[in-house]
Amino acid sequence: MVTNRQERAIGIFDSGIGGLTVLKAIAELMPAEHIVYMGDTARVPYGSKSAAMVTRCATQAVGRLMTIPLKMVVIACNTASACSLGALVETVDRTGAVPVIGVIGPGAHEALARSRNGRIGVIGTDSTIRQGAYQHVVKTLAPDTMVTAQACPLFVPLAEEGWVDNEVTEAAARRYLDPLRTRNIDTLILGCTHYPLLKGVIATVMGPDVQLIDSAEATAREVKALLHARGLERASGEPGKHAFMVTDAPERFARVGEIFLGRPLERVELVILQA
Ligand code: DGL
Repeated sequence: MVTNRQERAIGIFDSGIGGLTVLKAIAELMPAEHIVYMGDTARVPYGSKSAAMVTRCATQAVGRLMTIPLKMVVIACNTASACSLGALVETVDRTGAVPVIGVIGPGAHEALARSRNGRIGVIGTDSTIRQGAYQHVVKTLAPDTMVTAQACPLFVPLAEEGWVDNEVTEAAARRYLDPLRTRNIDTLILGCTHYPLLKGVIATVMGPDVQLIDSAEATAREVKALLHARGLERASGEPGKHAFMVTDAPERFARVGEIFLGRPLERVELVILQA
C-alpha cells in the first residue's frame, strides 16, 4: 500500500473506452503521474440509459476503483458526470480528502472563456443532453449566453469502430450538425469523451469559424491545478505507470484503446462486478 499521497495514482473512470481521451490529455500534461483507469465495458453505453441506471452502474464501478489508494478521481464520462456526480462524490469520499472532478465544469468554463459572440453549441449522448448539465452550468455562469444542444448518439459507436474519418461518419456528422450551423454559434463543446476522436470530421462540417472545445484538455488542466493546489503532484522524474481495469472484453479494449492513445496499452485487467 502506497502511503505517500503524492505517489498515489489518479483514478480515471469512464463507461468504456472514451475516457482514454482524458487519460491521454492528463498523461501529456503530467507524464510523471501514475494513472489507474476503470472502464465499465460490460455495461457501455451509458448514453442511452436512464439517469438512475447510470448512477447504479457508475457507483459500483467507481466503488471498485476505490479499492486502490488514489489521490484523486476523474469522472471522464460526460454521461456519468451529468447524471451521477453527486452520488460519485459520496462513493469516493464525502469528506473531500480524495477530490473528485467531472468533465462538464471544465468544458463549460473553457467554452465561456473562448466564445466571443455568446452563442455556444454542445453535443453529447442522449442522456447528457437530456440532463441539461452543460446548459445549466453555462446559464448559471453567464445567463445571457445562448446554448444550443444536440444529441449525436451514433458518434460513440462510430468512434469505437475506429471510423473516425470516412464518408459514413461525415454523413452522420452533417445530419446531426447542420441544424447547429444555422444558429450562428462560434464555439462547440464536444460533450462526450469519445468525440475528440471525430474532431477532424466535426471541424470540417462546422467550418473554420467554429472553435471546438475538447473537454479532455480542459479537464487535464483542472487536474493539474488541483494537484498543485493540494501539494499532491508526483515529484519523480520517472514516467508514471498506467494500469487499466475493464468489466468485460479486455482484448477489445486493448485493440480499440490503441486507436485512442496512439500506442499499445500495457496491462488490461478484467474485473467482475456483482450484478
Ligand atoms: N464516454 C461517454 C460520455 O462521455 C459516452 C459513452 C457512453 O454512452 O457510455 O458521455
